Amino acid sequence: MEASYPRNKFDDSSINICYRKYLENESRYFILYGGAGSGKSYFAAQKILFRMLYENHHKILLIRKVAKTIRNSQFSLLKTLISDSNLSSIFRFRESDLSITNKLNSNTIISVGVDDREKLKSIHGITSIWIEEATELAKKDFVQIDLRLRNRTSNYKQIIMTFNPVDANHWLHNTHLNNSLTVKTTFKDNPYLDNSYIDVLNNLKNEDKEYYDIYALGNWGTLKNIIFKPFEILQKYPVHYDETIYGLDFGYNNPTALIKVKIKDGCYYTEELIYGNKLTNSELINLMNKTIKNKTDMIFCDPAEPDRIKELETAGFNVHSALKNVKDGIDFLKSQKIFSKPENQNLNKEVLSYSYKTDRNGNIYDEPVKFNDHALDALRYALYTHCRDRNEMRIRRI
Ligand SMILES: Nc1ncnc2c1ncn2[C@@H]1O[C@H](COP(=O)(O)OP(=O)(O)OP(=O)(O)O)[C@@H](O)[C@H]1O
Ligand SMILES: [Mg+2]
Repeated sequence: MEASYPRNKFDDSSINICYRKYLENESRYFILYGGAGSGKSYFAAQKILFRMLYENHHKILLIRKVAKTIRNSQFSLLKTLISDSNLSSIFRFRESDLSITNKLNSNTIISVGVDDREKLKSIHGITSIWIEEATELAKKDFVQIDLRLRNRTSNYKQIIMTFNPVDANHWLHNTHLNNSLTVKTTFKDNPYLDNSYIDVLNNLKNEDKEYYDIYALGNWGTLKNIIFKPFEILQKYPVHYDETIYGLDFGYNNPTALIKVKIKDGCYYTEELIYGNKLTNSELINLMNKTIKNKTDMIFCDPAEPDRIKELETAGFNVHSALKNVKDGIDFLKSQKIFSKPENQNLNKEVLSYSYKTDRNGNIYDEPVKFNDHALDALRYALYTHCRDRNEMRIRRI
């Protein structure tokens, strides 16, 4: 029996027209790939919500490589979608394990990271799955997940995968899956996208061919001239540090990023604190008040926005304008030992694609492509501005 719902705004017209025909598609593998901002994740969330409302006996699994990154991606997107659709009253959200229950029909959504192998093994009775940023997963992880979806269910079983086609050598590009539907979209398919973001994507044409191909045109590509090796990921950081500093990159249409850097014995332990679009300065100050414990710690800020720095100073933060020298800053970072955590999702993602600009004739410049670089800029502001002389000092002392 279908549950009866309060008046809500979740109907066909809320679904982007380019995806509408797939709402009831029953392929086992539903692959949504393409350029940035094409509405892939949003539609995946809508399809899951649709099934949670109008089908029964569901236990839908949200998966990403790292469990802790689900909170700020799939889980928060579903929460926002449900609340924007006026459906919050019929759902129960449990923040502790990132689960969502439809109170009227008991359908549930649960979350697990590939990094939580024990939990993954213990999960039974799954009826469908959404893998976000599926390119993060190794093929063997996918095979294991696929095996979990084999029991008898009253509705069709589906694995939705959403991702950008960042590497033409990826198994997702080279594996044929039976009973699959692949849909490629780009920002041009998404009428809900901000003009400013459209400008950013169009401008990639002048920045770097490969980036433009992948993020604007949604074609499988291979990024070359990657600047950094991925940071070493630590599950646990030390307890005590010599010093704590912060780096802050301002954005509005682009994300604002705040990175905390704890320093111990010349090594840097990073923590992504804020990464969000459309943050006004007062919203940013609120968030900083919540996340920065010690207001005397130094914060090195994007020097392009002196007025915003002034406002933060008035709010009591120990802010400094960062050095803008990009090339030297990058070279400095390359020579340092920098650690990251699994949950630093944007920092870890940016580092994989951050590359030197290459023009159509193959000339490589010694400046990076200005795209997906906000957490890394914040990190560079802090480290280069505050610590650049330390190696020299160490050498001089010897
Ligand atoms: N049907 C919709 N209604 C309202 N807003 C939408 C809709 N579809 C997409 N959007 C908005 O468009 C923007 C981009 O969508 P989304 O994040 O789903 O894109 P994406 O393809 O997953 O991007 P990426 O490749 O960067 O992960 C978001 O701000 C989202 O809220
Ligand atoms: Mg997405």
